[in-house]
Amino acid sequence: MALQRLMSFFILYSILGYIPSLGVILRTTDKTVWANEFEPIELTCLIESISTNNPRIEWKKIQNGVPSYVYFQNQISGDLEHRAQLIQPANLLILNTSRADTAEYRCEVAAIDDHKHFDEILISLAVRVKPVVPRCSVPVAVTVGTSSELRCLENEGFPASQYRWFHNNEELPQDPKSSPKFINSTYSINADTGGLKFRRMRKEDAGEYYCQAKNVAGHAQCPTQLMDVYDVDIVGIFLKVLAALAGLIVVMVGVCHVYKHHCFSSGKDHTGTNYKLPSQDDGVDYAEADEGHFRHKSSFII
Ligand SMILES: *[C@@H]1O[C@H](CO)[C@@H](O)[C@H](O)[C@H]1NC(C)=O
Ligand SMILES: *[C@@H]1O[C@H](CO)[C@@H](O)[C@H](O)[C@H]1NC(C)=O
Repeated sequence: MALQRLMSFFILYSILGYIPSLGVILRTTDKTVWANEFEPIELTCLIESISTNNPRIEWKKIQNGVPSYVYFQNQISGDLEHRAQLIQPANLLILNTSRADTAEYRCEVAAIDDHKHFDEILISLAVRVKPVVPRCSVPVAVTVGTSSELRCLENEGFPASQYRWFHNNEELPQDPKSSPKFINSTYSINADTGGLKFRRMRKEDAGEYYCQAKNVAGHAQCPTQLMDVYDVDIVGIFLKVLAALAGLIVVMVGVCHVYKHHCFSSGKDHTGTNYKLPSQDDGVDYAEADEGHFRHKSSFII
C-alpha cells in the first residue's frame, strides 16, 4: 500500500517536475535587484519551458502586502505607465526608476495548453537613492572642558546614509586613539546617526567642521561651519558679574540700613511733609469709620 502510494506520488512528481515540455517553468537571473534612482533596470522573467503558443503574461507589484497591476492585458498600467515596457519573453524593463518603485514584483505566466499551466516568480527591487545635503548643527562657541555634540542628518538616502565628519578638511578617524594627531581628543562618532560627541572640549578641537552623508548611490555634504573653543567660561563670567552686581546692591541696602535715620528722614523732610500728613489723616479716618460701621452692623445682626 505504502509502496504503491509512493510510486504514484513519484510518477506524478516526475510528470509535473521532470518533463519540462508539459509545464510552464519560469526562471530569473536575479531574485534581489538593486537599481539607482532615475536609471533603467530590467527584471528578468525567463520562460524555461512552455508548450502553449500564446501564454498570458502578467506582472504585479506588491508593496506593503498590497498587489497592483503593472502589466495586464498586454499593456503596462499603474504607476509604471509610460515608464516601462515588456521585453521578450516576459522581462519587465523600467526605463526611469523612482524611489517609489522599491517593492516586490511578481511575474505570472499562465499557459493554458500546458499540463502545469501556471508559474510565477517573485523579484524584489530596491531603488537606491542618493543622500541629499545633510542638516548639520555645529555650535558657534563652546568652553574648554565642557561636553558638546555636533549633529548631522539627512533622511532621503536609501539605503540609510552613513556619516563622516571632517575637521579642517581632514576626516576624523572613527576612533581618535587610532591617530597620533587626534589621540588626545575625546570625541566619538556615531556613523549611523551622524552624531559627533565630545566628552571634553579642548582648544585643539576648534576649527572648521563639515559632515558627509554617504551611501552606495552617492554622497552629499553640508557647508563648513566654524566652531570656537574658549578657555574662559563666558557664561561663568556673566554669572560672576551678576553676582557682583547683586553684592553691590546688598551693600548699598546695608549702608542705607545703617544710616536708616538719614535715609528715611531726608525723604520725609523734603517731599513728605506737606503731602503725606493729610493723606495719613485721611487713612486713619476711613479705618475708624469702617471699623465703627462694621461693629455697628455686627452688633445689630447679633
Ligand atoms: C526620470 O524621472 C525624473 C523625475 O520623475 C525626471 O526628472 C528625469 O528627467 C527622468 N529621466 C529620464 C531619463 O527620463
Ligand atoms: C597628547 O597629550 C600628551 C600628554 O599630555 C602630550 O605629550 C602630547 O603631545 C599630546 N599629543 C597631541 C597630538 O596633542
